[in-house]
Amino acid sequence: MAELRVEELSASTIVAVNNMSLKPGQERFLAPESYAIAATVVNPSTSWQRVVLDGDEVVGFVSANFDPEAPQEHFRSVLWRINVDADDQGRGVGRFAVEELLSEARTRGMDHVNVIYEAGTDGPDTFFRRVGFTPVGETEYGETVAEVRL
Ligand SMILES: CC(C)(COP(=O)(O)OP(=O)(O)OC[C@H]1O[C@@H](n2cnc3c(N)ncnc32)[C@H](O)[C@@H]1OP(=O)(O)O)[C@@H](O)C(=O)NCCC(=O)NCCS
Repeated sequence: MAELRVEELSASTIVAVNNMSLKPGQERFLAPESYAIAATVVNPSTSWQRVVLDGDEVVGFVSANFDPEAPQEHFRSVLWRINVDADDQGRGVGRFAVEELLSEARTRGMDHVNVIYEAGTDGPDTFFRRVGFTPVGETEYGETVAEVRL
């Protein structure tokens, strides 16, 4: 593995991001219902997104929302979406992306980062726990709300 790095989404990487593949069964975990609803009220100026590159190859994508004014506490500093190309899963790309996100949150003076996800086989529950998130509650749709304190 070459040195992993993150870049802002750009014209040259957006197609590769959209073409990243998932492993069978992972599709339903990509966008929990709460995010779909909150997305209608997210202010574009509070969103942060990065492409993860391994050399010249796009291997992952991570996005977040940092908005201290968001009405719901768990959307004020929140990991919005993370995915790693199927062929590149299991070798530390996801952990690297989360570390970059936590570093960004610290820079912005946030004291925590939340994530909302669906528990279940093939889902990201173990991953989020391994990279430092602890479940702290549930949404009205039964999704897990987890948190890292910074
Ligand atoms: C979840 C996802 C981002 C993980 O990315 P990844 O690059 O494979 O994860 P990493 O290799 O960095 O793994 C980090 C740790 O999590 C563990 N882990 C990752 N996926 C796991 C899984 N499916 N089951 C068990 N452990 C897992 C790894 O073993 C590793 O543990 P360790 O470092 O303590 O040994 C990736 O599987 C993915 O894109 N899934 C589909 C999209 C998705 O569900 N996104 C979340 C929606 S909110």
